[in-house]
Order: sequence, then structure tokens, then C-alpha cells
Amino acid sequence: MKLFARNLTLACGIGLLAGSAPAVAGGSVEVLHWWTSGGEAKAIGELKSSFEAQGGTWIDSPIAGGGGDPAMTALRARVMAGNPPSAVQLKGPGIQEWAQEGGVADVDDVAQAEHWDDVLPPVLASIMKYEGKYVAAPVNIHRVDWLWANPELLAQVGAEVPTTWEEFNATAEKLEAAGITPLAHGGQPWQDATVFEVVALGIGGPDFYQKALVELDPEALQSDTMIAVFDQMRTLRGYVDEGFPGRDWNLATAMVMNGEAAFQIMGDWAKGEFLAAGKVPGEDVLCAPAPGNGFILNSDSFVMFGVQGDEWVEGQKVLASLIMSPGFQETFNLAKGSIPARVDVALDKFDVCAQKSHADLTTAIGANALVPSLAHEMAVPRSIRGEIMDVVTEHFNTDMSSQDAVQRLVDAIQRAG
Ligand code: GAL
Repeated sequence: MKLFARNLTLACGIGLLAGSAPAVAGGSVEVLHWWTSGGEAKAIGELKSSFEAQGGTWIDSPIAGGGGDPAMTALRARVMAGNPPSAVQLKGPGIQEWAQEGGVADVDDVAQAEHWDDVLPPVLASIMKYEGKYVAAPVNIHRVDWLWANPELLAQVGAEVPTTWEEFNATAEKLEAAGITPLAHGGQPWQDATVFEVVALGIGGPDFYQKALVELDPEALQSDTMIAVFDQMRTLRGYVDEGFPGRDWNLATAMVMNGEAAFQIMGDWAKGEFLAAGKVPGEDVLCAPAPGNGFILNSDSFVMFGVQGDEWVEGQKVLASLIMSPGFQETFNLAKGSIPARVDVALDKFDVCAQKSHADLTTAIGANALVPSLAHEMAVPRSIRGEIMDVVTEHFNTDMSSQDAVQRLVDAIQRAG
């Protein structure tokens, strides 16, 4: 009752309800998310306008900060205060963690009526369920291991998009010699971790990635392969410009777009920025899987939190159904840079990078080479992710040796475990 009263007050406060009886048609949602960059805002705008077009009332609660760490802090505070938003952008093991705490509402009646099990890849369906019931609705499949490249800068040094890390380093040296910043990067822990996991997949392959960064196997963590991963991180550190500390990811994306840097290593939400700026992916900005042989999975989803009152419960059902509708999955992902979570949405309208993502995803599933993103909260509990990110970031920003970084990693995981 307390929650309902809070939400009702909020809705009334912004003049959404007439009289004392809330209108249930379409329902209401308050959506907490971190989609505030150009491409992201456009994509969430699609969800908002579709929801409103069905007669619903949308209360927007954006918490800026790429990768979502500030949003997760805000969520914790809201729940602690007994005042959760009704829908939250949340994913991976975090869904289970919140469900175990007991504050999450299921949307299983919608999922069963609409046969979600038949249209979602099993790997996603299981992430969305808690104790066999759907508690989340997925919007997309993002690929993390992408290399974005400015074709004009590559042409200036006569280089192609590299397919191995040795080639990457050789091209970066040429770019540097020509006075071009090789790598656009933003020094924030989640961005450092994004690059780290891409390098780990590239140097170690999917089995190594799975053992080290998902199963946290001490042998894999202490291996020479992991030392080589940190060595490559140190090499990459030499390729970023002086302005990298604290830079937001979308500003790094803009550097590639504007010819201020040749490459960015980032998931395909970067493509959402190119699209929002009117660029043609694959032409104005090149996309290629980062050197490696696999696919790092990141999928965004919305989790419904326990709220009371018909207005809010109805809003959750409408939102869940809308998120999973084929038309919405197409429109949203065309803006976001990702591909639909549903397997039955045609990709005719999508660009070459999305087509490549889909083809490589299918291959990776067949070859057991699909791995979950550590940086984007798909792989391990949040506390362990935090420990790993601390080491990766400290190594990147100091002269810590690769051997010391590996030892720190093992110690940190033991502590957290
Ligand atoms: C990821 C999220 C993406 C994108 C990115 C940058 O964690 O899955 O949708 O928004 O952060 O903010």
C-alpha cells in the first residue's frame, strides 16, 4: 500500500491522473534506465512512444552513466527506501540476485500467453526466468567484441582492418607515426573491463574466456595466457590519447566518427551513435569483429519490481508484452545498434554489421563459442565483477606488471568468493 501511495502521489504530482480514480487502460510504468547517449535515448524513446501509443503513462527515470553502474546504485537506494521503480533495466545474474531478495514481480502469464519460450534463444530465456517463471523481458542481443574503425584514417596509412592482435599493434604503430591517435578510449572501469574481456577472448579463445572469466578457474586465471592478456592491455594503453581518463564511451565513439582516432573497441551500442549521427555503418565507419574467434553476449532486459495497484500491475503487463512484440523488437534494435532478442524477427532492414552479428552468433552457438560479458554483468555476480574491474583498471592506469596483475586477480577473487 505504501508503494502504491508513493507512485500515485508521483503520478498526481505531475498531473497525470484526473480525479481520484486512476485510469487503468494502458497502465502506468516508471522506468529506471541508463540510456542517455544519442543512440540510447533514441532507442528508449521508441519504447516510451509505443507505450504511450497504447494509452499508457510513462514516467522516465534515467540515471546517466554508461554500463549502468550509477543506475544500479540508484536502484539499490530506491529499493532500500521501499520505493522501487516499477520497471528496471537490469540483466544477467543480477536478475536472479534481485529475484532472490524477493522484490521482483513475475510476468509469466504474459510470457505463457505469448509463447516466449518458442521465440527466445534458450540461453536468454533461462536468464529471464526465476524459479521457472519469467521475471524479465529481453529487448536485444548486443555483441561486445567489435572493432570500429575510421576508413579514411586507415587509408592514410595504407592499412586494412586488422584480424589479429599483432596486426592491430602494427597498424597502431603506423597510425602513431602518422600523428593519428590509434585507439579512442574512455578511462572508466567498465570501459577498461570491456576492452579487457575482448582481449581475453581474442588471445585466449572462448574456452579460456569461459574458464577464467565465468568459472573463475584459478589455473586459467594464473596462466601464461592471462599474462599475455595483460601484456596486450599494457600495449593498448600506449595507443590512447592523453584525454582518456574519465571520458564517456560515446565521446570516444565520436572521436572515431569525426576522424580524431582510428579505432574503438566497444559493443555495438557504439553503432547506435553512428546511426543517430546519420552515418552508414560498414561504410562511413567500419565494423569488424575484434581479433578473436567467438562472440561475447550482452543482452538488455527489463525487470518488473513488486508494486501494488491495478494501474501499475497493468502497466507492467503492457510493457512486457510490448517489449516482446516483433514490431517493437525491430524498431528498437534498428536504433540501438543491437539485434532482436526474438529469433523470428526478419533482419532485412538491418545494416551489414547487424547481419554479421547474427551470422556470427549462430556460428558461435554451434561451435560452443558464445560467452557472456563480464563487463556488462552477464557472467558473474556483481561483487566479483567489481573485484576484477578494480584490478584491470589499476593495471591500466599504473605501471603494474602483468605478473602482479594476475596475482592481484587471483587474490581478489579468493577474497570475494
Ligand atoms: C551496456 C548496455 C548497453 C549500452 C551500454 C552503454 O551495459 O547493455 O545497452 O547502453 O551499456 O551504456
